[in-house]
Order: sequence, then C-alpha cells, then structure tokens
Amino acid sequence: MKHFKFNKYTDIAAMILLLVILLFMILGGCSLFQNIEDESVNEHDENLIVVGVSQLGSESGWRTANTESVQASFTKKNGYFLLFNNARQKQENQFKTIRSFISRRVDYIVFAPVVETGWETVLSEAKEAGIPVILMDRSVTIEDKSLYTALVGSNFVEEGEKAGRWLEKDLEEKGRSEKDINIVILKGTQGASAQVGRTVGFSTIASEHSNWNILDQEYADFTSAKGKEVMESFLKKYPDIDVVISQNDDMTFGALEAIKESGRTVGIDGEITIISFDAVMEALEMVAEGTINVDIECNPDQGKYISEVIRMLEAGEEIEKEYYVEEDVFTIDNVTEELLNKRTY
Ligand code: AHR
Repeated sequence: MKHFKFNKYTDIAAMILLLVILLFMILGGCSLFQNIEDESVNEHDENLIVVGVSQLGSESGWRTANTESVQASFTKKNGYFLLFNNARQKQENQFKTIRSFISRRVDYIVFAPVVETGWETVLSEAKEAGIPVILMDRSVTIEDKSLYTALVGSNFVEEGEKAGRWLEKDLEEKGRSEKDINIVILKGTQGASAQVGRTVGFSTIASEHSNWNILDQEYADFTSAKGKEVMESFLKKYPDIDVVISQNDDMTFGALEAIKESGRTVGIDGEITIISFDAVMEALEMVAEGTINVDIECNPDQGKYISEVIRMLEAGEEIEKEYYVEEDVFTIDNVTEELLNKRTY
C-alpha cells in the first residue's frame, strides 16, 4: 500500500496555510449560520434597532415575496439592522436561529413558524432574555400567550371560509346546489397554521352541504412539484373530480400541469373548478384567462406592518395582540383592476 509522507517543509507550509485560513475566518466574522447577515453592530450602527428574522423557507412564490417585504422594510435607511436566516422548512433550524438571536442580544425577534406547535421552550428563553417576539405570517398554538408580543399575519380560517362561501355561490349560479359535488384537497405543510386554518375554514362550510363529497385530501407541502405528484395520484384514483381546492398557488401550478396531461379541462369553461390561495401575479393572470376560477388572497406584504408594530413598541404605545393583513378574493370579475395595480409578486 502506498503511504503519503510529508517532509518538514510541507508541514510548515500546511501550518502557514491553516493560520492564514484562521485569520480570514476571524477577520470575516465566522457565523453559526451561513445566511445570517453577519456584520457586527459597529459604533455607527448603535442607534439602529437590531431585528433577527427567522424565515421558515423558500417553498413558494408567496414566500419569496414575504422575504422581500421583510428585507425592504428592515433597512439601515429605515433605522434597522437586519439579521436574516432561512430555516429551510425545519423547526430545529428555527430553534437554533432564535437561540443565536438571543445570545446576540437582538432588540426584536421576528419569525414565521413553520408549524404551529412545539415553541414553548425556545419562546420562554426569549422571554427570559427580555426580547420581544413578533410572529410573522403564521401563528403558534401555545397556552401562555405572553410568550410572544404580537402576531402580524393572515386569518387562515377566514381564508378557508371564503373559499367555501365562493363555492356555494358558484354552484348556486350554475344551478348545481343540490347536485353531488366531488372535491379533492391539496393541503399545505402538515401542522402549519396556513394549512390547518384553511382546512378548518373550508370544512366548516362543507359540513353545511351534505352533497359535497370530499373524496380525498393530502399534504403537498405548498410546493409545485408535490402539488403535481399528489394531483396525479388523485386523477388516477378518482375519474369524477368536480372541484380542486389547492391551498396555495404553487401547488395549483403543479396540479394544473397534472390535469392538463390527463386530458381533463379546468376553469370557467372546463370540467374541473379550481380554487386556489395566495393570489400571486402568475396565478392572477390565470384567473384573468379563466383557468383558475377563484384565488383567495393571502397578503405577503407584512414587513411594513411589523415595522409599525416595532415603532409603536419603541414609542411605548399600546399594541394589539393580533394584526391581520387585508386580503381580497379574486375572480374573473375583479381581477383586471388588480392586474392593473401591478403587484410586484
Ligand atoms: O403561510 C402562508 C402560506 O405559506 C402561503 O399560502 C404559501 O404560499 C406559503 O408557502
């Protein structure tokens, strides 16, 4: 067997190289997390409010818009120093990030919880350290509400109900209120409040209609790829689907591909009614052309509202526990106006 031998000159060269690497790491300020914006708060930044944001991932167009809204609001120009981390759909990553924000003694922690449950310990640590926590987008299920300061996000139960009420009205208009209606549901990430709330809201309305048959419902993680995969399996199992409820636009895009490949038709002139959530630009264009029947808006532009909550806290003003962003419902009848408003996401 061949062995590699180092002579004393290669040893010295290796040591020098190691020292140079270490020096670069120290000068560069090595961080625990690759994508945390990692400048240390220097003298010039002393007046800035340090905000640590733990984003849950980058699974959808909506999420990208939500991240952009945060990054546009928490700028140095607006008086903030932003530490940002993407948890890539893992709650453990959010735990680590929140703990790193605590040890860096940030002024505020903002986070979008990937799932609803399991936050008691880490939020108690933040409370003990005296750092206010603001929930963004999704909520948590927690007994002790004092573990977070405020929530800025969406009312997902209401979104689900809007979908149900729209379907009721649509069936009435088509004279199909009394007919059997076969429904499949593409659900988002299991345990996420967006998924739980939309499911609860829609089920409440569905329970008032004994002729609505929910044939199947499956988790498709809010992604286009999974949306397509789950829809393909629904289409194989059920030849007679009337309505697809897809809990976000990305899953809808995947589902539409699967339906097209199966030869069935969708939308206002087609066989399958498509109900989607989010209302990102690409989906609104599909509403305008009649491919998606209705899109229940979920508003990602939350950075400015969170910044306003922080401003009120800084000024010692009283704040509400929950702030829900304004959200609309888009169909072919009102979408043109929205498209003309030229939303950026
Ligand atoms: O929590 C909001 C939901 O999460 C949006 O509907 C979806 O697109 C995102 O991934």
